Amino acid sequence: MNYLIVTNSCPFSHDKQGNKIVTTSNVGGVATALKSMLEKFGGTWICWGRGSADENFCEEKYNNYTLKRIMLTRRERQGFYEEYSNGVLWPLFHYFRDKIKFMPVSYKIYNEVNKKFAKEISQNIENNSVIWINDYQLTMVPFHLRQMDIKNKIIFTWHIPWVSKEFYSILPEGRDIIQSLSMSDVLTFHTKLYTNNFTETYRFLFNEKPHSKVYSIPLGIDTSFFSYERARKIKYDGIANKKIIFSIDRLDYTKGLINRVLAIERMLKKFPELAGKFVYVMNVTPSRTNVPEYIKMKKEIEMTVGRVNGEFSTMSWTPIIYMYRKIKDSTLLSYYKIADVALITPLIDGLNLVSKEFISVTRKGVLIISKFAGSACYLNDALHVNPYNLDEIADAIVTAINMDEGEKYDRLQKLKMEVQKKDSTWWYKKIISKVA
Ligand code: G6P
Repeated sequence: MNYLIVTNSCPFSHDKQGNKIVTTSNVGGVATALKSMLEKFGGTWICWGRGSADENFCEEKYNNYTLKRIMLTRRERQGFYEEYSNGVLWPLFHYFRDKIKFMPVSYKIYNEVNKKFAKEISQNIENNSVIWINDYQLTMVPFHLRQMDIKNKIIFTWHIPWVSKEFYSILPEGRDIIQSLSMSDVLTFHTKLYTNNFTETYRFLFNEKPHSKVYSIPLGIDTSFFSYERARKIKYDGIANKKIIFSIDRLDYTKGLINRVLAIERMLKKFPELAGKFVYVMNVTPSRTNVPEYIKMKKEIEMTVGRVNGEFSTMSWTPIIYMYRKIKDSTLLSYYKIADVALITPLIDGLNLVSKEFISVTRKGVLIISKFAGSACYLNDALHVNPYNLDEIADAIVTAINMDEGEKYDRLQKLKMEVQKKDSTWWYKKIISKVA
């Protein structure tokens, strides 16, 4: 058996920097898991080369697999990626009704680009290849493959939430999209709720069961990478005597960034004695920087952080250390190591691997997790909060800061067991066993 992985983003990209070409590795959880699977079993990886120098690297050999890049024109990038994937499907599947910009033209381009992916797949498969497609940018690929009479097994993994049938039904192209997905042999979601929502949506629209087998199999992390031992020492003298609250997210309206800053403000108003005793290290990674909603969101978050810092800072203390940049993985490991509390409060999130990474690295930390993150249903021993309830977040931070060592230890051991048991290897093995 050999595997043909299909994702929107590539595991590596090449960018022009002056007259040099710089190669960056995509360290996201999905890419990491799929990369280790391909290194083991061999195959091909098809993705969109969006680096500024990627056109010179349409085919590359890596450890046991070949990477093939699809190039998109400016118009394709805009219609497929910015407008339809991130302007329609992303807000739809996260229940952001007001942010959906329905545009029939962009769906047409999205569909054409999905066909382009299918064509590239068809040129790279062997009889025994299993095709494994990932995420909402590529929903129409199974349809185009079946149109080309390709009979290979198809796995489709969905990495974001699946909404209720009523909400899904507002999507004008909804029937085509769900029908295409169910042309896969195996469809996987990260939680039972999304799996049930998908099956119910299908029944609601077609009055029958979906044709694919549908499973809930949550993605895991590489626990040998996210380990305490690998985390290097960093200098943080200025804040070493304070409780460190930490978060890292892509800049996205689903992540609850503003509510989190408002919760820090609420906490300082409710418990003024905490002033000077903690810092909130808020790392935000730039994302989808050409999509208008994201540009707007950046301004809003920066104004809110500035306002709260302006209200509470003193000559010797600033409550929020805000960093807007992509940080290296080695730095992230160190942040996980020194943090006393990880504050992961998305308004909604397909899974959320940051919560698992933190648990895997920390030896002293408490995890506060939004009950609307997919991972919350597996991480029972974390403190669960409603990300819309600022008082609840503020109180959970205080509980975390004051938690006695015994309780912290007990919770952490149970959480670590769960994260170690369902790691990234467990995830891909479980999924490929479903087509065996
Ligand atoms: C989410 C999606 C992924 C996507 C990632 C980064 O996690 O589920 O499919 O790759 O965000 O977003 P971007 O638009 O930069 O690929």
